[in-house]
Amino acid sequence: MKQGTFITFEGIDGVGKSTQLDLVYQKCLQLGHPVVKTREPGGTELGRGIRRLLLNPGLKNLGAQAELLLYAADRAQHVAEVIVPALKAGKVVLCDRYLDSTVAYQGYGLGRDPVLVRQINELAVEGVLPQLTLCLDEELERALKRTKGDRIEQRDLEYYHRVRNGYHQIARAEPERFFLIDASGTIDQVFEKIWSVIAERGIL
Ligand SMILES: Nc1ncnc2c1ncn2[C@@H]1O[C@H](COP(=O)(O)OP(=O)(O)OP(=O)(O)O)[C@@H](O)[C@H]1O
Ligand SMILES: [Mg+2]
Repeated sequence: MKQGTFITFEGIDGVGKSTQLDLVYQKCLQLGHPVVKTREPGGTELGRGIRRLLLNPGLKNLGAQAELLLYAADRAQHVAEVIVPALKAGKVVLCDRYLDSTVAYQGYGLGRDPVLVRQINELAVEGVLPQLTLCLDEELERALKRTKGDRIEQRDLEYYHRVRNGYHQIARAEPERFFLIDASGTIDQVFEKIWSVIAERGIL
């Protein structure tokens, strides 16, 4: 059923995900691959409404369960409306954040059982999992300095330590799929590392 290639980009806020995703997108275009780029939350019309809610710093008392389920609702719509049709059409799908973000931020970050978070999201993803996940990793202070301070980004450094640790746990659990990429170099140096992981795996 699935014929395309699904690659996700992960990492803490400001670490360079969107920058690197764009470079991979440009490279795919150069190579003549049919490619789409998309993101979570906000990859659909419904998702753009959910994204505005989730990232609005004015929304002070959104409960942790509601937050988790809003991310899952965004994802369910995104998988059905964007990701599955593109994969069925044989495209390369580059997605800025996906399931691992929710496990890291709403699971490890908020101190909730990551297994439960994953189970809730299984309803949303319908078995559609990335072949490869590139997780940019660097010192929190350097990455967070580059962010604009949305609702999630206003959480304290301890929260981000738990999120980063969550990503490290996923990397240990799924080394075949989930790659930590040292993101401390220049944009070009990081891209070189990313492209070498993609090339080594021969998936593009
Ligand atoms: N390796 C790098 N060195 C220096 N600056 C960088 C590097 N990578 C990205 N930047 C810059 O840092 C800023 C944040 O990068 P980017 O938007 O790609 O991060 P992000 O991980 O997508 O952030 P967010 O989680 O907020 O979406 C941008 O201005 C980008 O140009
Ligand atoms: Mg981004």
